[in-house]
Amino acid sequence: MEFKNKVFSGDCREILRDIPENSISACITDPPYNYEFIGHKWDANEVKRRLAKVKDSKTLVKNIPYGSGLAGGVRNARWYQRNRENIMDYQKWCAEWGAEVYRVCKPGAVIAVFNSTRTMAHVQVALEDAGFYARDTLVYRRHSGIPKGDNLASALKQKGISDYQNEEGWHSCLRNEWEAIVVLQKPLEENYINTYLKYGVSYFYTRNTDGSFQSNIIENIQKNEEDKQQVHCTVKPLALMEKLIEMFTPKSDEHIVLDPFAGSGTTLVAAKKLGRSYLGIEIVPEYIEIINKRLSKLKRETRELSPLSDQSYIQQPSQLSML
Ligand SMILES: C[S@@+](CC[C@H](N)C(=O)[O-])C[C@H]1O[C@@H](n2cnc3c(N)ncnc32)[C@H](O)[C@@H]1O
Repeated sequence: MEFKNKVFSGDCREILRDIPENSISACITDPPYNYEFIGHKWDANEVKRRLAKVKDSKTLVKNIPYGSGLAGGVRNARWYQRNRENIMDYQKWCAEWGAEVYRVCKPGAVIAVFNSTRTMAHVQVALEDAGFYARDTLVYRRHSGIPKGDNLASALKQKGISDYQNEEGWHSCLRNEWEAIVVLQKPLEENYINTYLKYGVSYFYTRNTDGSFQSNIIENIQKNEEDKQQVHCTVKPLALMEKLIEMFTPKSDEHIVLDPFAGSGTTLVAAKKLGRSYLGIEIVPEYIEIINKRLSKLKRETRELSPLSDQSYIQQPSQLSML
């Protein structure tokens, strides 16, 4: 199966089975953040059902079609039990795709996975169960969190309690200002240097443009105009994905970056822009069109900027393979 610089449509758990082992240099991905799986199989039909459900919604949930954690309901034992079952289902699902990613990764390859601060521990444990070794958790500080949940003073006012103002400032949650990126690594062969010499991976690139040493907090990433124009609902800033690719993938198109939850293809565009190869998988066929448009646009821009440029930097257009 030819898989370098390709985008496949389907469930990553199935598609990855056809990818050779030890062929991927880094997996950088942003899977659906769990929350409301309960009783649903996480397949294309389920994704479509959820998208249809929120299509005309004017609420925040519109942007979070996989369930938002904003679900109401009485907090009784059943509610907590369903939440527990939900997160355990999610962890099991992460272990399933994690096992396939593990197989295709080279020894020393990094897997960096976005997740919410509430659920990141489950993703880490699932990936450890798949065989990866936990290395770090990066903070992606994004400055835009809106506090959700209950305001105590408002709740007291609704109950008709007169001195509700005394309780101003109390809230049921904190403002969520960062997203987690759990970072794990496929076990090394003996040590860093021997793994590097054999597979070309294992070290992180740590020199910032100002000469400082990269920390595990990533901040001051701005969304550019292109990021804002994407129609996919959970697009990550291109500059953020570029940063992660620079940190975890060597500078060469021999190295393939995998994104098994490609969405609108931001990881793939960043990889291509930086001269790495990519492999993308996305379950919703409509998103594949968005990905291919973005990759083709980048190719046109690269050609316009440097008509005599190094051909190795300009990859073949990704081929849409509807499996
Ligand atoms: C959070 S979004 C990724 C967004 C991406 N970071 C971007 O910038 O566009 C997660 C994507 O995973 C896809 N997905 C969900 N389950 C999948 C599966 N089993 N296999 C492949 N893709 C899946 C969803 O359709 C969704 O587009």
